[in-house]
Order: sequence, then structure tokens, then C-alpha cells
Amino acid sequence: MDLKEIGKRAENEIRTAQNQNDLKKIVQKYLGKTGEITQILHSLKNLSNDEKKQLGQDVNILKTELMNLISSKEIILAKKELEEIENKTDIDLTMPARQASVGHLHPITQVEDRIIEIFSNLGFEVAQGPEAETEWYNFDALNIPKDHPARDLWDTFWLKTEKKMLLRTHTSPVQVRYMEKHVPPIKIIAPGRIFRYEATDSSHEINFYQLEGLMIDRDITLSDLKGIIEKFFQAFFGGETEIRLRPSFFPFTEPSVEVDIKCLLCKGKGCSACSQRGWLEMGGAGMVHPEVLKSVGLNPKQWQGFAFGMGLDRLTMMKYKVDNIRLFYSGDLRFLEQF
Ligand code: DAH
Repeated sequence: MDLKEIGKRAENEIRTAQNQNDLKKIVQKYLGKTGEITQILHSLKNLSNDEKKQLGQDVNILKTELMNLISSKEIILAKKELEEIENKTDIDLTMPARQASVGHLHPITQVEDRIIEIFSNLGFEVAQGPEAETEWYNFDALNIPKDHPARDLWDTFWLKTEKKMLLRTHTSPVQVRYMEKHVPPIKIIAPGRIFRYEATDSSHEINFYQLEGLMIDRDITLSDLKGIIEKFFQAFFGGETEIRLRPSFFPFTEPSVEVDIKCLLCKGKGCSACSQRGWLEMGGAGMVHPEVLKSVGLNPKQWQGFAFGMGLDRLTMMKYKVDNIRLFYSGDLRFLEQF
């Protein structure tokens, strides 16, 4: 059998193969167990040594050549198949893969972090307390006895526990817990989650966040409160922010004040955001009531200081111009992705 003729034939078949299956058949036909070239190798044993050597070499060269041809044809066919798939479907194989989405901190957490940063610069430390609180810390120690009407303002969820417990209605109990364990001077803020039994609307939620502040030393006055609060708002909202204190009432402070900032939108002229008042209410504050100091074993004649409480949700709403508190708790990505 003429090796050259076989070689030419095989080469031709490889070139004209239409798919991988054709190629497989060609391999079998020439190089398989009973393939034409394999048979020539088997027939070598009947030849003389010289002939064996020569033909053996020629067969091996041809084998290698054909194997190389087959591998390059395989690549060409694979490319062709891919193109065919691409043409047949709408799938764009060159499109970049979809990126894994990475989350980020909730806007309220971002604001909390910023607030902690500002107060840290003013020398305040961060304190924390439990969300499920005892009646004593949430009310009694803060000078709100059982039948005091102020309790009605802070209606909440009571827990079915042996000791009377509730979901805290404000972060003020952290003041008491901290003063019990630390000797003055004290400068802390306590951001945290609180709960109220409320009908929800665009400015009320049953669960929201507060920021408590407390500063105790030997001769702290309301002007220290004003200075610190003003510094905070100016750092948070911008240097030109103005504040004012209005007389108010809280059982745990005396005197008590309400803290307002000049409306950021109308700059005090009056607009819908501030109900035409020109000022926005941001929180409560005052000088810590002597009864509260006594309840933690501090002598009010030696120590005094101020406390304040602000809504973190409110601060976040003002900062980012969000008009509905419920958006923060909706888990709606269309809202959250904007921050
Ligand atoms: N705890 C009050 C509330 O939830 C806010 C508050 C007012 C906190 C006056 C204070 C304060 O520390 O001095 O409405």
C-alpha cells in the first residue's frame, strides 16, 4: 500500500471535515486499532530489517503530521461552532459578566458614624445600654414615678418577664447606667434604637433611633450645653447653622429646654418644611435633675451637668431631605441605593 497515497487522502479528509464527529471518524479510519496506518505498522514484521527501518520512520512522520493537522482543525471547528451558536441565539457572549452587587451602610448608620466622629472630636465617649430595659432605668431612676402623666408620652411594649421590663422608649436610661458605674467627670453620647407604641405616619415609627448626650462635672452650666450643641450642629449641617433654646419640660432635667435649629431650607423666613416657623425642633435637653443625680448616688451640690436627646432619624431626614421616616425601615433598595 502506498503510504504517500494514504497520507494525501487522510490530509484531504481532515481539511474537508465539517465537524468534530467527522474528525473522530478520520482518526479511527487511519490511526485506530484497525486503522489503515496502524495496519501498515503491523505488516512491518514481514519485511526485511532495512525496509522495516525506512518504512517505520516514514509511518511515524506521517502519524505526527496527521495528528498536528487534526489538532489545528479541531480548533478551527470549535471556533466555527461557537460562531454558529452566537448567530443562532440572542446571547451576546462578548458581554461582560454581571457584577456582584456590594452593599453599604444604612443612611442612619452613616449618620450615626458621622455624629460619633464629631462628638469624639469634642472629647465625648460612646456608651451603650440594653434595648430591653427595666422599668426602673427607663422611668423611675429618671424621675418619672409610676403614676406620673409623663409616662403616657412614652407608651411602649411591655415584656412578659418576671421583673417588669419593656422595650426602652428612649436612650436616657443609658445616662443612669453609665453614672452608676463611672465617677465624674463624664462626657458621653449614647446612640441607639428605641421603641414606641405609635400609630405610624410619615414622621412616626414604632421603632427608631436616638442620640443621648451627657456631661457631668463640678461646674457645668446651660451655656456649656449651648456651646456643645451649637458646635455639633455646625459640624453636622454646616458652619452657618444657628440654634436656639426654648423653655420646656422633661422630668429628668431642670431647667429643661427644647433645641431648635434655624430652618435649613428657608433660612428662617418660613416655609413648608418648618411649618412657616422658620425654626426646626431637633430635640430636648436640660440640666440633669438633682433627683436623677441622687438616684445614682451623686451629690447634686458637688456635681451637675447637662443632658440632651435627639432623633437620629430626624437628623438623617434633615441632612438628606427625606420626607418619610418609614422609608428607612422599608428595606426598599430603590431608596437605600441613593445613599
Ligand atoms: N428622652 C427624651 C425623649 O425621648 C429626650 C430627652 C430630652 C433626652 C431631654 C434628654 C434630655 O437627655 O435632657 O423624648
